[in-house]
Amino acid sequence: MNVNIMNVDYSTKIPNNVNLAEDRQVLKALEGWHPGYMDWWGDMGPEGFQESLVYLRTAYSVDPRGWAKFDYVRMPEYRWGILLAPEEENRVIPFGEDYGKPAWQEVPGEHRAMLRRLIVIQGDTEPASVEQQRHLGKTAPSLYDMRNLFQVNVEEGRHLWAMVYLLQKYFGRDGREEADDLLRRRSGDADSPRMLGAFNEATPDWLSFFMFTYFTDRDGKMQLHSLAQSGFDPLSRTCRFMLTEEAHHMFVGETGITRVVQRTCDAMQEAGITDPTDIAKVRALGVIDLPTIQKKLNLHYSLSLDLFGSEVSTNAANAFNAGIKGRYKETTIDDDHQLKNSTYPVMKLVDGQIKMVDEPALTALNMRLRDDYTQDCVKGMLRWNKVISTAGFNYKLAVPSTVFHRQIGEFKDVHATPDGLLIDNATWAKRKNEWLPSTEDGDFIASLMKPVTEPGEFASWISAPKVGIDNKPGDFEYVRIES
Ligand SMILES: [Fe+2]
Ligand SMILES: [Fe+2]
Repeated sequence: MNVNIMNVDYSTKIPNNVNLAEDRQVLKALEGWHPGYMDWWGDMGPEGFQESLVYLRTAYSVDPRGWAKFDYVRMPEYRWGILLAPEEENRVIPFGEDYGKPAWQEVPGEHRAMLRRLIVIQGDTEPASVEQQRHLGKTAPSLYDMRNLFQVNVEEGRHLWAMVYLLQKYFGRDGREEADDLLRRRSGDADSPRMLGAFNEATPDWLSFFMFTYFTDRDGKMQLHSLAQSGFDPLSRTCRFMLTEEAHHMFVGETGITRVVQRTCDAMQEAGITDPTDIAKVRALGVIDLPTIQKKLNLHYSLSLDLFGSEVSTNAANAFNAGIKGRYKETTIDDDHQLKNSTYPVMKLVDGQIKMVDEPALTALNMRLRDDYTQDCVKGMLRWNKVISTAGFNYKLAVPSTVFHRQIGEFKDVHATPDGLLIDNATWAKRKNEWLPSTEDGDFIASLMKPVTEPGEFASWISAPKVGIDNKPGDFEYVRIES
């Protein structure tokens, strides 16, 4: 591996390992974009705490053995950089019609529009989540959690930079226009919303934040994995490095929910409650009852499934054929990597019934990626259920059926229970509050969202983490609010 690419140049205004100092035109375009980004961060980044010192990690290298440095930083002074994973020597296009040919270092003309569209869609999600989470700092359950929120936020900001670099370096004038538009759209805005549904939903409280980082960032992980396979090598290298950061976001979600569940179980045990569905009794303890956690899970999981698009999709087939977007772990799959004759089972609505139907594997790529995603989701959830069973409670958190609460794909026009039983509109209207968070549920959770800013202290509804960030002790001051 090349040493220059491993270490990041911090001498330019925009830290990078892509030799921007000698790429004047792109450096100029990025420097031109920078003030707009800072304005966006000021307007739409975390509310308050911009002067606080936050114990953040910053990437200084792309060496997987050690790439981050931790230190106190004011968020607006965070060094957002352009970091690509090291080039793999003699990399070939790992799938599609050009399978086995050398990976592209420049945009192949015939795939330009498709490639730009995929980069813009990925790019659009990054600032969107920052916007959705901007108000959460004020109700953080601890300084530890506040720090994790801000870490996720600055890294999503960096992911936006990553996509903007690709647009400005490889797509000329329309790339620059797309880069500007990424700062113009706003999550949930009526006139100019973000591009994907889940990124226009509110993240009203910290339980939502943990669900979002668990379920929605994990969609991001799957998309990044597929793009990391891309025959367009700069995109592949960009996504590979983003994935190292993304792992922490999902860690925040997974451990966040684990700690909420832990605290609820501890409180129920201490109070001698044996029925975890006795919601009133559990809530009186100042913790979030398991059935409400399940409802939040139902909501975030179903919204995240929508991000995979239609089960059967010619767009997905085209992107695969073109060598632009591959499958999860493409290079480890043992087949022709062209999907010439294979099929894949797709869950469909046939004459009002749910059936598995074999579809050409090429057009079923979204379904396949979504299945991989569900498997990945279920793995981490075993830990949550372990906490519940270890505490001696008879309750299990589970992902709802794919058919439940969908707005995109095969099942968007029907209603179903979390078990996947089709129901009519009237039943749905009557019962949906049993399965999705109601206004009362939201109000109850909101009532718990009181900030805790004493080092080492945690809100009533969440337990302390097992280990600190960067191995810091339990009472470490992760955010120096007044500085
Ligand atoms: Fe991201
Ligand atoms: Fe993320």
